[in-house]
Amino acid sequence: MNRDMNFKNQAKQPVISSICCIGAGYVGGPTMAVMAKKCPHIKVTVVDTNSKRIDEWNSDDFDKLPVYEPGLKEIVCETRGRNLFFSTDIDSAICNAEMIFISVNTPTKDYGLGRGMAADLKYIELCARRIAQVSNGDKIIVEKSTLPVRTAESLKTILESEDARHTFKILSNPEFLAEGTAVNDLLEPDRVLIGGEQDEQGQAAVNALVGIYLNWIPSEKIITTRIWSSELSKLTANAFLAQRISSVNAISALCEKTGADVDEVAKAIGMDSRIGHKFLKSSVGFGGSCFQKDILNLVYLCRHFNLPEVADYWESVIKINDYQRKRFAKQIIEDLFNTVSGKKIAFLGWAFKKDTNDTRESAAIYVAYELLQDRAEIHVYDPKVSAQQIIGDMKNMLQQNGNQSFDEISQLIHVYNDPCEALDKAHAIAVLTEWDEFKTLDWEKIYRSMYKPAFIFDGRNILDATMLRKTGFVIKAVGKQGI
Ligand SMILES: NC(=O)c1ccc[n+]([C@@H]2O[C@H](COP(=O)([O-])OP(=O)(O)OC[C@H]3O[C@@H](n4cnc5c(N)ncnc54)[C@H](O)[C@@H]3O)[C@@H](O)[C@H]2O)c1
Repeated sequence: MNRDMNFKNQAKQPVISSICCIGAGYVGGPTMAVMAKKCPHIKVTVVDTNSKRIDEWNSDDFDKLPVYEPGLKEIVCETRGRNLFFSTDIDSAICNAEMIFISVNTPTKDYGLGRGMAADLKYIELCARRIAQVSNGDKIIVEKSTLPVRTAESLKTILESEDARHTFKILSNPEFLAEGTAVNDLLEPDRVLIGGEQDEQGQAAVNALVGIYLNWIPSEKIITTRIWSSELSKLTANAFLAQRISSVNAISALCEKTGADVDEVAKAIGMDSRIGHKFLKSSVGFGGSCFQKDILNLVYLCRHFNLPEVADYWESVIKINDYQRKRFAKQIIEDLFNTVSGKKIAFLGWAFKKDTNDTRESAAIYVAYELLQDRAEIHVYDPKVSAQQIIGDMKNMLQQNGNQSFDEISQLIHVYNDPCEALDKAHAIAVLTEWDEFKTLDWEKIYRSMYKPAFIFDGRNILDATMLRKTGFVIKAVGKQGI
C-alpha cells in the first residue's frame, strides 16, 4: 500500500490513518498502547529489532509483557490485535505509515568522542537511514526519544541525503511520562509538547500530530513550539526534576548532622506555593534511565557551546546523587562495626522506583557495588524484578568498573521470591525501593529472625521508624538522626 501524503500539494494537514513506532521499550510500548486506545480509527504498529521483546509484547499471558506498569496490561488486552500491533517487520511498518515515531534508546556514549557524557545517537541514525531507504512516500517523523538540541537537523540531513524523492517533516514530541505512573501520565498529561519547523509544511505536520492528541487531550494542554525549544525543554525538565532531588538530598546530609528532620523541612518548604511539594522526597538517590544521561547530555552541550560555568552547575546535580548513594553504603558499613564482610545485608527492592520493573541506574546497584567491595553478602527481594535481571545488573556494574572477578563475586548475591526468606538471619536490612508492600511486612517476626542489633537502613523513608524502634530495631533513615 502506498501511503504517499504528498506534502507539496497539500495545503491542509495530512490525515493520519496509520502510525509506526520504532522502539518497543518503556516509552514506545505504553505510549502507543494509549494512542491506540484513544484513536481506534488509527492503526498503530510498534516495531523493534529485539524479537524477544516483540514476542513478549505478543504474549498470550498478559503478565509476561516486557514492561510492568499499573493499568498497562488492561489497555494492551483491549487494543492488541484491534488497532495495536507489535512486529519485527520494520520495513513494512515504515512503508505503511504516514507518521513514524522514533522511540529508540539514546544512552550515554561509552566510547570515543563525548564518552561518558554525550548521547549516543547511533540507534537514531540507524532509524533515519532505514526510513529513508524503504520509504515509498512523504512521511512525518516524530522524535519521541530524548535527544540533544538540534538533532532534528541531523535527522533531516540524513533523510534528505539518502532519499531526495520524498519530503520528510521532522517533529519533536518529547515524552514526559514517569515510569510507575506511565499509563496515567499518558492518559492525563500535564501538557503535550510538539516542536516543528516554522514553514507551511512544517506547521501542517504539527497540526497532524495535534489532531491525533486532540482525541483525548484538551487543546489548552497541547503546546506547539519551534523544534529546538521542544528538544531543549525535555532535557531541561529532567535537569530541573533531578536538581530538586539532589537539592533535598544535600539538605538531608545537613539534617543528619544537626538534628533536623528532612521530611519536616521538605513539608515546610513544599507548602510555599513558589516551591511546591513534588519531588522533595529525600532518598538514597535518583535512578532510572533518564535523569543522569539527560543531565550529562546537557552538560556536554554546555561545554560544547563553551559555557563551562553552566556545565559545572548542572554537573553538580549528578555529583550530589553519587555522593548520596556512597554515603548510604558507607553508613551501613560504619554502623555494622566498620565491616560487612561475610554479613548478610538484605535488600528490600531493586527497581529504581516502585511500580516498575525497570532497574536502569537503580540506586540499589550502586549501593550493592559499594557493599560488595567490603565483601558483604547481598540478599535481594523485589516484587517485580527477576533474579536474572539483578545478576545481570551486577555483572555489568562490575565490568564497567574494571572488576573481572564476577564469578567469585556472584556467589555473594542471592535473590528471593519471598521477602521473609531474604530477611531471615540478616545482619541488616536496606530499603532501596519504596514498594508499598514493605510497609506492611510482619516486622515483629522479621525482628525475631534477625541477628541483633537488628539494623534497618531506610533509603526511602517509608517505614514507621517509631514503631520499628519499639519493636527493637536500630533504624537509620535518610536525613534523620539515628537513635
Ligand atoms: N523510560 C522513561 O521513563 C523515559 C521517559 C521519557 C523519555 N524517555 C526517552 O525515550 C527513549 C526510549 O526510552 P526507553 O526507556 O523506551 O528505552 P528502551 O531501551 O526501553 O527501548 C528502546 C527500544 O528501541 C529498540 N531499538 C533500538 N534501536 C532500534 C532500531 N534501530 N530499530 C528498531 N528498534 C530499535 C531497542 O531494541 C529497545 O527495545 C529514550 O530516548 C529515553 O531517554 C524515556
